[in-house]
Amino acid sequence: MSTSTELKARKAAAVPNGVGTKGIYVAKAENSELWDVDGRRYIDFGAGIAVVNTGHRHPKVMAAVAQQAELFAHTCFHISPYESYVALAERLNALAPGDFAKKTLFLNSGAEAVENAIKIARYYTKRSAVIAFSGGFHGRTHMTMALTGKVMPYKRGFGPFPAEVYHAEFPQPYRGISTEQALADIDRLFHGDVDPKSVAAIIVEPVQGEGGFNPAPAEFLRALRRLCDEHGIVMIADEVQTGVARTGRMFCIEHSGVVPDLITMAKGLGGGFPLSAVTGRATIMDAAHPGGLGGTYGGNPISIAAGHAVLDVVESEDLCARATRVGQKMRAHLEALAKEFPLIGDVRGVGAMVAFELVKDAKTKEPDAETTAAVLAHAEKRGLILLSCGTSANVVRLLAPLTIQDNVLDEGLALLADALRDAYGREAARAVA
Ligand SMILES: Cc1ncc(COP(=O)(O)O)c(C=O)c1O
Repeated sequence: MSTSTELKARKAAAVPNGVGTKGIYVAKAENSELWDVDGRRYIDFGAGIAVVNTGHRHPKVMAAVAQQAELFAHTCFHISPYESYVALAERLNALAPGDFAKKTLFLNSGAEAVENAIKIARYYTKRSAVIAFSGGFHGRTHMTMALTGKVMPYKRGFGPFPAEVYHAEFPQPYRGISTEQALADIDRLFHGDVDPKSVAAIIVEPVQGEGGFNPAPAEFLRALRRLCDEHGIVMIADEVQTGVARTGRMFCIEHSGVVPDLITMAKGLGGGFPLSAVTGRATIMDAAHPGGLGGTYGGNPISIAAGHAVLDVVESEDLCARATRVGQKMRAHLEALAKEFPLIGDVRGVGAMVAFELVKDAKTKEPDAETTAAVLAHAEKRGLILLSCGTSANVVRLLAPLTIQDNVLDEGLALLADALRDAYGREAARAVA
């Protein structure tokens, strides 16, 4: 096998520049650890961007996939349908919040789920406008780029984007944007830019992921629900990153008690295999004509088998409770670190979706992207995979698999503390090997 250095050079020659990567070329992975082609071990606090909530290669997921591969790998659900797709739809319909009939459509990626949720909402309402939020992230296809409220690296140079997308402020108490201000901004849109009666959907992440792990306050989600009810707008909760036990509930929006009309999910649902879904009110989901929704690979049998196993594991290993415990431990550790490092401006998140924001000055709160990049680089040197986020790239997010063993979690958190000490030029507890 080639070394990381060789692979970096080959990647630069063979793969487009726009496909950004970290430098760790993986050879194998198990639960919350992975090993690169040079034999170095890493603790994974990224989980493939919140995908392997059930850990890398969970034995039950791998067994389900192997079993399905013995039967059939692909037929296209539109051509030769299969029971496992229908059964997984039934399970998600039962799990999603809302005491009404629901239906589920399967796709491959998060962006595809969002695209389809918008298609469905437009068809049902016979309206075209969509409201999304500053700092929101919904994917890299054209419609989802339009919905995304973060220019770099997702939008620059890729326009023009589909029309009829409007952005409102998202509450961010640390940056002085209250729920009231965010709601006033929607009111501004309704008076200045778009008639609420032309709005098909409001799409909201219950915790903004790429935007910086900003939780939507419950009163904000409740107010959006009221606005949607008042104006006949479809409320879409984008749970692509927050879903599947990550925040301590199957769906993050359950914390607020708000019932959305449609939920988009992906990432954790497939446990490492490409699977996404839109689940929602049957009356809305059923609006489109046959053939209007779907795709060649949507609900591929291998991914569907993985999805069933993921739901089994979430239940049998009580991963919602585990997410809460992992998150509490991370938060306590970060809050202690914030005392040592006053330029940790904010620690926030829900369940095991936890982040901290680095600033240059505690008073001005000027974002510190340079130190954030340094923390990530030092963490990597020490054997810890961390991801950043935030519209100013100054937020470090922790997204360990929910199945992470306690001792590995402790080890990862200690490495994080040392990476911060390295970045701020203080003496670290451990030398880098
Ligand atoms: C909230 C949200 N929506 C949509 C997407 C897009 O998902 P994908 O990359 O699978 O297309 C993401 C990915 O990070 C996401 O976090």
